Amino acid sequence: MSCSSHCCGAEKIFDEKGVRKALKKYSKKGPDNFSQQLIDALKKEDINQLSMLDIGGGIGILQHELLKEHLSHTTDVDSSEAYITGAKTLMVENGTQDKMNFIHGDFNEHIDKIDKHDIVTLSRVVCCYPDIDKLINNSINKANKYYGLVYPADNIIIKMGIGLMNLSLYLRKNPFRTFVHSVDKMNDLIASHGFERVYLGNAFMWRIALYKKVD
Ligand SMILES: C[S@@+](CC[C@H](N)C(=O)[O-])C[C@H]1O[C@@H](n2cnc3c(N)ncnc32)[C@H](O)[C@@H]1O
Repeated sequence: MSCSSHCCGAEKIFDEKGVRKALKKYSKKGPDNFSQQLIDALKKEDINQLSMLDIGGGIGILQHELLKEHLSHTTDVDSSEAYITGAKTLMVENGTQDKMNFIHGDFNEHIDKIDKHDIVTLSRVVCCYPDIDKLINNSINKANKYYGLVYPADNIIIKMGIGLMNLSLYLRKNPFRTFVHSVDKMNDLIASHGFERVYLGNAFMWRIALYKKVD
């Protein structure tokens, strides 16, 4: 994997300790509220036998839940090796080895080898990436039908919290930073690719949105 300073910093944040915590929480409580909302919004659509590209999938909660009954196969692209290992642990438990593909690295550096999928999701990933135009344009170009996002609300309280988080990263000499992007700008970009929003929900600081390609 080529390692930009931002991505190397991400490897330190999204590490084995975080994976252990995420796996334990998922096994005890199931999907978080924001993941469940995106899963439910997708299940209301006709997604049987569709494929899904989950960018920054973490331990792969969206993929594991939707592979149970609906999807044909998934591709997980994640810049954290530890999280990919966590997702593979659940894949083996679920017996879905023949339905899941993995790519380790920054999604934007691997776009040439990633096929289009019916559904593309980025849950809590836009806040990890500085160039929102690049991330949304590259990822939505991989979506045939649906585009799902979980992103932080762009209000002043969240911006202050993210600012404090970045200060703490700076003090710990970690080059990784988190970002609150303009929601209007993200919506305009997505609409410019011919997608309309079919679901919008809230979960504490997160907004959950599902967009559908207009025929
Ligand atoms: C906050 S976690 C979210 C995990 C999961 N999607 C969820 O909502 O629980 C962010 C994930 O995105 C990954 N990530 C961040 N930027 C990325 C990029 N440019 N390409 C691929 N993965 C990325 C991180 O490694 C991490 O696993």
